[in-house]
Amino acid sequence: MRMYDLIHKKKEGKALSTEEINYFVKGVTDGTIPDCQSAALMMAVCLKGMDDREATDLTLAMLASGESADLSAIPGLKADKHSTGGVGDSTTPVVIPTVASCGLKVAKMSGRALGHTGGTIDKLESVPGTRVELTPEEFANTVNTVGAAVIAQTGTLCPADKKLYALRDFTATVESNALIASSIMSKKLASGADVIMLDVKYGSGAFVKDPEDARELARLMVRIGEGAGRRVGAIISSMDVPLGHAVGNALEMYEASDILCGNAPADKLEVCVELAAGMLKLAGICDIESARKMAKETILSGKAFGKLCEMLEAQGGDTTELRNPEKRRYAPYRYELKAAREGYISFMNTEEIGLAEGMLGAGRTALDGGVDYLAGLEIIKKTGDKVSPDDTVMVLYSSDKALFDAAARRLENAITYSDEKPEVPPVIYATVGI
Ligand code: URA
Repeated sequence: MRMYDLIHKKKEGKALSTEEINYFVKGVTDGTIPDCQSAALMMAVCLKGMDDREATDLTLAMLASGESADLSAIPGLKADKHSTGGVGDSTTPVVIPTVASCGLKVAKMSGRALGHTGGTIDKLESVPGTRVELTPEEFANTVNTVGAAVIAQTGTLCPADKKLYALRDFTATVESNALIASSIMSKKLASGADVIMLDVKYGSGAFVKDPEDARELARLMVRIGEGAGRRVGAIISSMDVPLGHAVGNALEMYEASDILCGNAPADKLEVCVELAAGMLKLAGICDIESARKMAKETILSGKAFGKLCEMLEAQGGDTTELRNPEKRRYAPYRYELKAAREGYISFMNTEEIGLAEGMLGAGRTALDGGVDYLAGLEIIKKTGDKVSPDDTVMVLYSSDKALFDAAARRLENAITYSDEKPEVPPVIYATVGI
């Protein structure tokens, strides 16, 4: 078999056989296929697509390229959730303790920030002392005793995806449903959970811009997961507006704590309730209506907040700041971005907001570099809100005030105003499999 022939075949829009996909993934994993040929194939897939069988084969081949987590020390069903990537999208610290409080165990592996999108692991690490690298025994013990644990994905899981993802990030070939589905599902299957709830994002801040494409992506991921014997459901939710008000690692952890203490922005609460309810339903705990009720009550009663603190403390975290808002640390510098004119906010380019968050210090500038956990922004006015020029639309936070100018210009350009009140699309567009 020759890689050249595979690239040529896909360039002509033909389906690759299972053997050809296995040959490609093996070559990526052992380094015998040069990056230029892998990148050429990724581009051909982006342009010509893959059918369901090919996407499933690619998922399974990437899954087989590394180890899978052994969760046998954790009895019963284990659940996981995953967002395809967003801005201000910290639903994990709300959803995980909620379902754990309802009796469903969560053994979750998460990633760090990617491109303009945030990462759960960076957010958890903003809580002082939190350890995201536990031994398999510590991970199983925490899930068994607390009901939930979240750790960083290890490099031994899906090494082929790791290589391909870096190449795709570098060659503008991230945006393909088959490639996104196989990348995410190979890692989710390797993480070992029985129940997988997906939050597939669409809109300006998502990798998939169109809601119908996002629905297709969700269906594909559900089919791949079910084919591998897992219980999988998805919501398709909007990333045309940042979710909630906080964008930044520590700021999002503070917001998650506030939500769990009864002070929840409506959009974020809705997404968290739906994700938690989907997990409870897929686990067979109750029907979807009862699950929504149970999830909402658990969030609003404060029960899930206790569980979040218990989980973080079991992982070494100091939850003083989450428990006591007056003790919270904020970046030393703040900058108020005012509305550019009188009118309504008609559009917020969420990808630009995510990039501006990075410019404030919340994003990595080197692959293995650190982040300013306190950097970020608070969104005071959102799409659909009426504003006058004196109104503060966003508050920016950074540990380096020289970073404000460029970030503020970017944010100004990310906001569009109108004279008429705009239609704001619902936060949840559709659900699949729940
Ligand atoms: N997240 C992933 O892990 N992979 C993708 O391809 C896109 C988002």
